[in-house]
Amino acid sequence: MERMGVTETFAGISLPGHLHTQESLSFATTFQFRPTDVLIATYPKSGTTWMQEILTLMFSHGDVLPAKTIPNWERAPWLEQIYFRDALQDTAARRLITTHLPARVLAPALQQSKAKVIYVARNPKDVVVSFYHFHHLAKFLPDPGSFDTFLTRFLEGTVHYGSWFDHVKGWLGQRQHLDIFYVTYEELHQRLGAFLGCPLGPETLRALEEHCSFVAMRDNTMANYSLIPSEIMDHSQGRFMRKGVVGDWRDHFSPLQNALFNRLYQEEMGDSDLQTMSQR
Ligand code: A3P
Repeated sequence: MERMGVTETFAGISLPGHLHTQESLSFATTFQFRPTDVLIATYPKSGTTWMQEILTLMFSHGDVLPAKTIPNWERAPWLEQIYFRDALQDTAARRLITTHLPARVLAPALQQSKAKVIYVARNPKDVVVSFYHFHHLAKFLPDPGSFDTFLTRFLEGTVHYGSWFDHVKGWLGQRQHLDIFYVTYEELHQRLGAFLGCPLGPETLRALEEHCSFVAMRDNTMANYSLIPSEIMDHSQGRFMRKGVVGDWRDHFSPLQNALFNRLYQEEMGDSDLQTMSQR
């Protein structure tokens, strides 16, 4: 498969050049957040698209029209990407913004505002499997090589978007300084209803349940990235909405890969409250 080779390096991490420039990245780090803004922050493949859908439905009070007619990258545009300024609806009462950038580059801009941050984390073993598959369809990402090669690079933190460990620890380390709501992909699976236990009317809740299920989102062209041209995503290589399950890593990891992963996980995350995440 022919790849769109350019890589942008920013703050020590590699990012797809197809979506980012130094200008778009520095614009992101100096962005003027408003107190009403909601920022979804994630490491790739952690449930970003799912959270974008949930918040779209919450903000529309269950009206499915925006989610069905506007692509998610316009509903919740990516702060660091080149098209952000055009896509951001400055008039929106509540601007929904998405980012994969690490906390260390966004914290100063966020600390000056009262913007809310929603951080979604996922078991990194499932993240690496999902990310590996995604590299096969996303032509703007490098050739991942074998799963073992990719896993080694993931553990070293040299894949695009950098180290999962730094990302999660960086954002969670900001909990004292920012207004952060932290949730895991696994919790969304387990208790989406309970988590959404904020005052939502029965209609909104019903719309959320119906519209944010994996199957509903897999079939929604405004959420499943099937609108992206095949020069950028080779849809014959797989779907963005791949499986949407917890624990798919068990079908991909060898016992040796699992042991290496667990050792590094313990070293990096041992004393954090995410200690058990990688066992699910
Ligand atoms: P898999 O590749 O494991 O299937 P992101 O949006 O951060 O890029 O994450 C993509 C991952 O979230 C993919 O994981 C995708 O299938 C999964 N996903 C997206 N919507 C989902 C939903 N409604 N329910 C469960 N998983 C979902």
